[in-house]
Amino acid sequence: MKNLTAAFLSLATAASASCVGSKIPTTSSTAVAAQPTTVSSSNVTNPSNSSASSSFAKTNGVLFDIDGVSEYFAGTNCYWCGFLTENGDVDLVFSDIAASGMKIVRVWGFNDVNTKPTDGTVWYQYLSAEGSEINTGVDGLGRLDYVVQAAEANGLKLIINFVNNWSDYGGIAAYSSAFGGDATTWYTNLVAQNQYQAYIEAVVSRYSESTAVFAWELANEPRCDGCDVSVIYNWAANTSAYIKSLDSNHMVTMGDEGFGPLDGDDGSYPYTTSAGGYTWRSNMNITTLDFATLHLYPDSWGQDYSWGTPWVELHGAACAAEGKPCLLEEYGGNNNCTIENPWQDAALATDGIAADMFWQYGDTLPSSGSQTSDDGNTVYYKQGNWDCMVADHITDIKAANAA
Ligand SMILES: *[C@@H]1O[C@H](CO)[C@@H](O)[C@H](O)[C@H]1NC(C)=O
Ligand SMILES: *[C@@H]1O[C@H](CO)[C@@H](O)[C@H](O)[C@H]1NC(C)=O
Ligand SMILES: *[C@@H]1O[C@H](CO)[C@@H](O)[C@H](O)[C@H]1NC(C)=O
Ligand SMILES: *[C@@H]1O[C@H](CO)[C@@H](O)[C@H](O)[C@H]1NC(C)=O
Ligand SMILES: *[C@@H]1O[C@H](CO)[C@@H](O)[C@H](O)[C@H]1NC(C)=O
Ligand SMILES: *[C@@H]1O[C@H](CO)[C@@H](O)[C@H](O)[C@H]1NC(C)=O
Repeated sequence: MKNLTAAFLSLATAASASCVGSKIPTTSSTAVAAQPTTVSSSNVTNPSNSSASSSFAKTNGVLFDIDGVSEYFAGTNCYWCGFLTENGDVDLVFSDIAASGMKIVRVWGFNDVNTKPTDGTVWYQYLSAEGSEINTGVDGLGRLDYVVQAAEANGLKLIINFVNNWSDYGGIAAYSSAFGGDATTWYTNLVAQNQYQAYIEAVVSRYSESTAVFAWELANEPRCDGCDVSVIYNWAANTSAYIKSLDSNHMVTMGDEGFGPLDGDDGSYPYTTSAGGYTWRSNMNITTLDFATLHLYPDSWGQDYSWGTPWVELHGAACAAEGKPCLLEEYGGNNNCTIENPWQDAALATDGIAADMFWQYGDTLPSSGSQTSDDGNTVYYKQGNWDCMVADHITDIKAANAA
């Protein structure tokens, strides 16, 4: 999701609040490498383990194969799951998601700061030109370890991403604060990219043997305003090849919104290369990206809600033509079933769309008795519009899979 910032930050400190200052010019090809990264000491046991009934998720034509089953899958977004500090909260959320019949859960695999919190707030990576640090402690990747463990225990599969385009939880802006440059030069800033790859290596190596990882994801909603489309293309090709070199077990995907021209489109703004600074359809030929993602927020993009159905169908047709699955990875429309049910029905009916994941999952945490982040698009487990937004769709999916 793009920018529901205030609500996003209700669960953790705004990582980027103190990112101003120490801007240095954009690095050139002669720039020196970033200072060595410190990986802080940790007592967290690597939770990765493969049980006999569990296998690495993969593609099967335009479908996903999860633990030997190729069919349409449901999932959801829980960006905050890895920032929870109580194991019991994670256990409850993952057992509720599994009980509902969903299979894929997308969590933020990044939490970048320019100032280390001292109040126990979870952070994963401190970014600084003087030496960055990846936090593998109990207030760092130890929390993501527990998420992986809980996913394993509940038979769920995780999408884990590595950076945010937006400044929530640091994002590209936190890299720029540390290393210079901006939202558009980040993709080619060698110092920033070296640190981004060091972070990727730290996370991927932690869970490379875990069957609870569904896919690694390059970024949340990468965009490059006014850039040549080759910038994101080259970054995606390079980064995905790098991830595959570290881990050949898992799928890799982009995490982008799906912008750019498609056959049969209506010419509206999201179908232009200006919307994201890339051409989604062309990026599909990157062989180290196993499947393509799309998001859907018509109101944020200046479109009517009904515009969403052809958006889903045209992406599915492109994926079917390319022979790769498409994942409708985020969607939101005023948390209104009348608006979103037609998108869900289209996703299920369209060859090439392999799964869909509503934004966003909500629950009531046992440690506090309070509800998780409400950004206006949150659907709480077995409350409010849960049935018409989630349960009924999963029933439809099961029926379609059985047919
Ligand atoms: C790791 O655990 C040992 C034994 O419980 C303890 O002495 C040590 O301080 C811990 N190290 C860290 C970095 O937490
Ligand atoms: C890992 O898997 C092996 C084989 O299934 C099992 O014996 C072992 O107990 C598991 N370890 C953990 C920590 O789950
Ligand atoms: C996200 O992408 C857009 C488009 O390039 C850009 O305007 C914005 O600054 C980016 N956000 C951050 C935090 O870099
Ligand atoms: C790929 O990333 C590496 C490491 O940051 C960098 O040295 C290289 O120039 C990049 N290549 C491309 C084509 O972007
Ligand atoms: C992938 O698509 C881009 C953009 O259309 C094109 O320039 C490039 O040659 C294609 N690469 C491959 C390997 O087909
Ligand atoms: C949901 O959207 C429909 C169609 O736009 C509208 O008629 C209805 O009033 C909305 N429901 C709510 C609760 O806002």
